[in-house]
Amino acid sequence: MSRTVLITGATGTVSTALMNALEGTDVDLHALIHDESKAGGPRKQNAEVFVGDLDDPRSLPPAFEGVQDVWLLTPNGPRAPENNMNVVWAARQAGVERIVRLSVVGAAHDAPNRSGRLHALSDRETERCGMRWTILRPHWFMQNLLNEAGDLSATGTFSLNMASARIGMIDVRDIAECAARVLLDDPDRHHGQTYTLTGPRSLTFDEVADQLRLALGRSVTYLPVSDDAKRKTLLGHGVPKWIVDMLEEYAQAYVSGWGDFTTDTVADLLGRPPRDIADFVRDHAAAFTPADDD
Ligand SMILES: NC(=O)c1ccc[n+]([C@@H]2O[C@H](COP(=O)([O-])OP(=O)(O)OC[C@H]3O[C@@H](n4cnc5c(N)ncnc54)[C@H](OP(=O)(O)O)[C@@H]3O)[C@@H](O)[C@H]2O)c1
Repeated sequence: MSRTVLITGATGTVSTALMNALEGTDVDLHALIHDESKAGGPRKQNAEVFVGDLDDPRSLPPAFEGVQDVWLLTPNGPRAPENNMNVVWAARQAGVERIVRLSVVGAAHDAPNRSGRLHALSDRETERCGMRWTILRPHWFMQNLLNEAGDLSATGTFSLNMASARIGMIDVRDIAECAARVLLDDPDRHHGQTYTLTGPRSLTFDEVADQLRLALGRSVTYLPVSDDAKRKTLLGHGVPKWIVDMLEEYAQAYVSGWGDFTTDTVADLLGRPPRDIADFVRDHAAAFTPADDD
């Protein structure tokens, strides 16, 4: 009998990729969204859509009815552990068998960034949830580069406060395929495992710029900027202060060498190497290209 998987954060980057990775497999999808106007995307991916708010536990039970597996993704923010708690409680009440949780690289009580410390709280809760569980801790998403696409298309440059940091960045499509692998395997197979997922190599943003230049066939330059300059830009774009502070903590950790590593876990789970930055930039070239170049 096919299993039913509830996808939380179903309109977001990772969960959308996960639903793509599960397309054509023998699972039924429930999608939890909090903005009804965004139901079209998950419906196109053949999910039954439920509107609920991770901040409001009373809104959650209908999405969990008849569900065996929960994909648990919490949005960034200070309420992430509360969101995780609300999902774990709703899952427990509904008799869910397994939780597969998206955490973050380096999650730990002594991580140098608030996101890593908040995720550590939810990882601990998940480990003690009484259901089968698996935790995925992905590295920095290559898809974060899409935030720079506007500047890059317009000026051929992108600015980050990452100095010459090296990062084992990963393509979100690989995170999604690892999550799908876990969800499609027998619930006992990955129970109790925490997988740190990275790309195939650790890269500087100068090296990323080289790859963009090759893929786009035009000049691309990475401009390292100070924390203060990046902060001003992000606040000017309306990014909330909590998120700006969090991003700065990550940038400082990466500049200190904290993210300079890779693992073999994606290859072990998928039986093939993770996507390289060259694959990412080739597949997303249109996003980095000015409209009149099309
Ligand atoms: N970016 C990275 O490099 C990186 C690396 C490792 C781990 N992570 C982790 O990845 C997670 C973020 O994943 P993502 O980038 O896929 O997120 P995302 O694209 O920002 O999507 C977040 C999702 O959560 C939904 N959401 C927001 N508030 C909600 C609420 N109150 N109730 C119900 N749903 C709500 C959003 O809905 P709307 O679309 O309607 O807003 C959206 O579907 C975070 O936990 C982060 O720590 C990120």
